[in-house]
Amino acid sequence: MSAFPATRLRRLRRTGALRDLVRETTLSVDDLVMPLFVAPEALPNERLPGLARHTVDSVVQECEELLRLGVKSVLLFGLPDEKDEEGSGAWTRDGVVQRALRALRPRFPELLLMTDVCLCEYTTHGHCGVVDPNGEVDNDASLELIARTAVSHARAGADIVAPSDMMDGRIGAVRAALDEDGLHDTPIVAYSAKFASAFYGPFREAAGSTPAFGDRRAYQMDPANGDEALREALLDVQEGADVVMVKPALSYLDVIRSVKDATRLPIAAYNVSGEYAMVKAAAAVGALDERTAVLEILTSIRRAGADIVITYHAKDAAQWLQK
Ligand code: PBG
Repeated sequence: MSAFPATRLRRLRRTGALRDLVRETTLSVDDLVMPLFVAPEALPNERLPGLARHTVDSVVQECEELLRLGVKSVLLFGLPDEKDEEGSGAWTRDGVVQRALRALRPRFPELLLMTDVCLCEYTTHGHCGVVDPNGEVDNDASLELIARTAVSHARAGADIVAPSDMMDGRIGAVRAALDEDGLHDTPIVAYSAKFASAFYGPFREAAGSTPAFGDRRAYQMDPANGDEALREALLDVQEGADVVMVKPALSYLDVIRSVKDATRLPIAAYNVSGEYAMVKAAAAVGALDERTAVLEILTSIRRAGADIVITYHAKDAAQWLQK
């Protein structure tokens, strides 16, 4: 093939219709999941509007609005009344997520209810599992509690459960517990490659889940490790994951691509709270155009290989995508 002047790549960029015809990556509201926080008390968050805490009542209103805008999937997080050492608020029948699920399920049969399965919002120490006497998170002792939490969410009406704790063996433990309870048809979205990231800062503020001591680097992944991320994903596939997730999204677009290529499963990417906060802060001082920046970011996550994008921008993006 001859090069310039016979070949001119600008030819296919000349008009809007041409660009629409040759676009390789699509972004649709169908791809988006909106995370929502449910708590005993509503608490607006001026700095992070998408991270306001809802009550069970206000989350019902919010879901109604999301559905009206075409957002059909939500990811629920809970903030309990009281925390304890084990995080029992995570699996109790009257937990905040369980109550939200029972309120939402009959009202919105068309809404996909996904839940984050973890203990960190429910434990006094803020870690994602049980802490042993040496102050270390006990992997195997945590599995049963995580599995119990997943089952209680599914019983209360969750369509999909998403364990985010990063314990070894949790996907197998959750799958076995769901099956034992007759919940064979409940899929698992595995937070497979979840990195120990600074970009979770605003979430921890909103969810009150900052560890009381230490950090999460003994269970979440080292941001430097791509090969290990693949091993995590492949193990979760073996253990029965239906969808694998990479989190955060923007510093890990290469990981999204390699996990997609290696697994060929549906891939979810979590565009996390710090990534959202950076865009909001930059837009607020006029440093960038929010709408264009957000659509570019979400498209880049899709181009990297994500089928599903979990993002606090979902509600705004839904409006912007209605041409
Ligand atoms: C709970 C959990 C976290 C996030 C999702 N699930 C926090 C963490 O691991 O510290 C982060 C979400 C975000 O920053 O938007 N394990």
